[in-house]
Amino acid sequence: MLGKAVYDVFSKEFEVKATDIDLNELWLSYLDTRDHNQVKKTIEEFKPNYILHLAALTDLEYCEKNPEEAYKTNTLGTENIAILAKEFDIPMVYISTAGIFDGKKEFYDDYDLPNPLSHYGRSKYMGELFVQNHLTKFFVCRAGWMMGGGKKDKKFIPKIVNQIKEGKTELHAVEDLYGTPTYTKDLAKNILDLIKTKYYGIYNMVCSGGRVSRYDVALEILKILNLTDKVKLNKVYTNFFKESFFAPRPGSEALINRKLNLRNLNKMRDWKVCLREYLENEWANEI
Ligand SMILES: NC(=O)c1ccc[n+]([C@@H]2O[C@H](COP(=O)([O-])OP(=O)(O)OC[C@H]3O[C@@H](n4cnc5c(N)ncnc54)[C@H](OP(=O)(O)O)[C@@H]3O)[C@@H](O)[C@H]2O)c1
Repeated sequence: MLGKAVYDVFSKEFEVKATDIDLNELWLSYLDTRDHNQVKKTIEEFKPNYILHLAALTDLEYCEKNPEEAYKTNTLGTENIAILAKEFDIPMVYISTAGIFDGKKEFYDDYDLPNPLSHYGRSKYMGELFVQNHLTKFFVCRAGWMMGGGKKDKKFIPKIVNQIKEGKTELHAVEDLYGTPTYTKDLAKNILDLIKTKYYGIYNMVCSGGRVSRYDVALEILKILNLTDKVKLNKVYTNFFKESFFAPRPGSEALINRKLNLRNLNKMRDWKVCLREYLENEWANEI
């Protein structure tokens, strides 16, 4: 999801070597971040000025059922890259997640202490800690509920849009989980602006517009598509989906971009503006 936006944004200014374990685009080449030697060879050959580490297992339920794989990819994969970033003295960007918090607070800023509830959250936070402890030239960018990537989008937006496409006239969305949507295009652009500075460190990087529930996002989708009269949206609570979404999730994983704001570097737009742009650009022909 994010890789496509990063590739598009960064290619305008840099020569980009984009890698993935799943080669579903011509612009991707193969690299498994769990393989230290392969990562080293790639860095030696390409000689990058920056390393952006996006790769992760991002399915919470898969990580909960397969914790060894989650830690091997999300934590050790990150360690591999951080060790090499240090060896070759290359600034590293690591994409972390709002899902490292325990949800007890309404909002989390960049200085709040994480306390992950799930194996996914823990495996991402352990990667983050390694980066923080091992490197001085690093940017940890914490994203919220990702939206972007069109057909590559595995998260909430296609779950709603695909039900509409199938002709469903009644939908259910959870009201008691809160977060901050994060548009991949804005995130990629803001990462680019940030890494041009030398203000290394941890940054929350989510869209503006405040804390929202899944229900709020689903309702906004219906409003943008002019479907509020045709599709009924029911508010439900987390236990409604407990069979399929069994991984523990924080009640609130809403972030505030305090440091980006203080440094006058916050370019993240309102999530409703981004959602409209995303639906119009990538989903309009599908519905
Ligand atoms: N999605 C969200 O809501 C969200 C929120 C906050 C932060 N993040 C973080 O943002 C980053 C980008 O995620 P995304 O949202 O763009 O999800 P994504 O589309 O699933 O991107 C992650 C990519 O990493 C690949 N990958 C998995 N294991 C790998 C390995 N060993 N070596 C190389 N590549 C591997 C995945 O391939 P497969 O698809 O084959 O597994 C996938 O293409 C991740 O670090 C994620 O933790 C995501």
